[in-house]
Amino acid sequence: MAVKTPWWRDAVVYEIYLRSLTDSSADGVGDIGGIRSRLRYLRDLGVDAVWITPWYRSPMVDGGYDVADYQDIDPLFGTLYDARALIDEVHDSGMRIIIDLVPNHTSDQHPWFQDALSAGPGSAERGRYIFRTGRAPDQPPNDWRSVFGGSAWTQVPDGEWYLHLFAAAQPDLNWRNPEVAAEFEDILRFWLDRGVDGFRVDVAHGLIKASDLPDLSIGREDLIEPPDRTDHPHWDRPEVHDIYRSWRRIAESYGGDRIFVAEAWVATPDRLARYVRPDELHTAFNFDFLRSPWRPDSLRSVIQSNMKALDAVGAPAIWVLSSHDVTRHVTRYGRPHTSTVGPRHELPEPVDLEVGTRRARAALLLMLALPGSAYLYQGEELGLEEVEDLPEELLQDPTWHRSGHTARGRDGCRVPLPWHGPVPPFGFAADGVQPWLPQPRHWAARTVQAESDDPNSMLSLYRNALTLRHSLEALGDGEMSWLDSPPEVLVFHRGHGLACAVNLGEKPWELPEYKRLLLASETLQDGKLAPDTAAWLEV
Ligand code: GLC
Repeated sequence: MAVKTPWWRDAVVYEIYLRSLTDSSADGVGDIGGIRSRLRYLRDLGVDAVWITPWYRSPMVDGGYDVADYQDIDPLFGTLYDARALIDEVHDSGMRIIIDLVPNHTSDQHPWFQDALSAGPGSAERGRYIFRTGRAPDQPPNDWRSVFGGSAWTQVPDGEWYLHLFAAAQPDLNWRNPEVAAEFEDILRFWLDRGVDGFRVDVAHGLIKASDLPDLSIGREDLIEPPDRTDHPHWDRPEVHDIYRSWRRIAESYGGDRIFVAEAWVATPDRLARYVRPDELHTAFNFDFLRSPWRPDSLRSVIQSNMKALDAVGAPAIWVLSSHDVTRHVTRYGRPHTSTVGPRHELPEPVDLEVGTRRARAALLLMLALPGSAYLYQGEELGLEEVEDLPEELLQDPTWHRSGHTARGRDGCRVPLPWHGPVPPFGFAADGVQPWLPQPRHWAARTVQAESDDPNSMLSLYRNALTLRHSLEALGDGEMSWLDSPPEVLVFHRGHGLACAVNLGEKPWELPEYKRLLLASETLQDGKLAPDTAAWLEV
């Protein structure tokens, strides 16, 4: 009897940035009711699961990644009752649901942090966070930088400093304190008991800090840059793996189908593979793929090195092109430097959206043909671009303020989705309601409705590709083998019957012999694969 592949080894998962999917309560912010109203759309699109960004009680300093109560839903998004209903409805639609777990830091409004402030220096309450005295009365304990800009330390009125690798409203927890570990085990169980299928682990590479908090001696400020060293004092410390072993045991105790996906920005594929050893987290995003320039040599080597490292530990690859943290890939691929992902201290570069869109179409067929699982970010199926001209007074990402208004941050990839109709809010919210970020008027041509009627739209390509991926045995989990090709073309086999070819060169390429063209990102030109085009072939 054939052994069934576990769902998470080849699932296509759709990231829902909750504030921006659909607003059901007429306040301009997306919510759980909004997701419930779109489940049919998601099922018809052909995704296997959804990942929902944080929905917990939060002052929303960082879009909900600042959690004040991990066991309740923020009223902006709904209630625990709504969350339960959503979990059931996702399951009834035949999909799975992954929620976001934020273990590196809490909100400064979390009762633990409030207690720590009032209990004072040396207290057990402060021991749940990372409080220290400064180097001098007005100097932080070390030179660490917040990912969002500025120092990673903030001083409290009694003179101590606390660590926050992100915003000051996101104090880092002390994961060497067993109370913290115990609390998160409770939180995991709380949600597993409510039926979620998994957790995306926020900043999975950051939980443990070197105990003597040594200076970093570099002024790194960028969220997206990988730690370029393997002895970093606060990223990718070896001790984080003990935490994940204990979490894996909890997930297994629920029957083996509940999973983790790690957000871990690390230096090398081998370091990433350590997070997904058989007794740790099940999967981890492949950010090398997302960061790779649109160049054949780079893509080929990223795919090869990551597959090799993951194969060695028996884990599937998780491919991803966009998320709520990086510049949308239609825009990235339309820039001269196609590897620039954000959060953008550099001056904006010119963007050719036509080129970017063409490459994004090819990239989809490449990604969905690779062995493993893929994550889509809401709106990429519509070909939405980064909105780079949001008015400054509306920018909300803490990066904007903490960088002294030099980095605009990540709001441009978080603009609410356009669903239907000729004018904003395009069905994102009731007519007349102002979305929390304004949508470009030209998105009238990018609504789900407009693209559904167009067989050549990005949405039609996504629907066709996902339908085919489900029906073709060769795709999903399994082996791949490269075929001989000129350096600017990537060609590989999946199983015996299927080949994927991507032309990253400047000239059309004559396809090798094949039985049938299954899908192409652009029409073939006299049987040739044009530049920036991909095809799936039956061979
Ligand atoms: C992760 C999230 C990002 C958030 C940060 C701090 O990188 O994806 O959106 O700002 O963690 O929680």
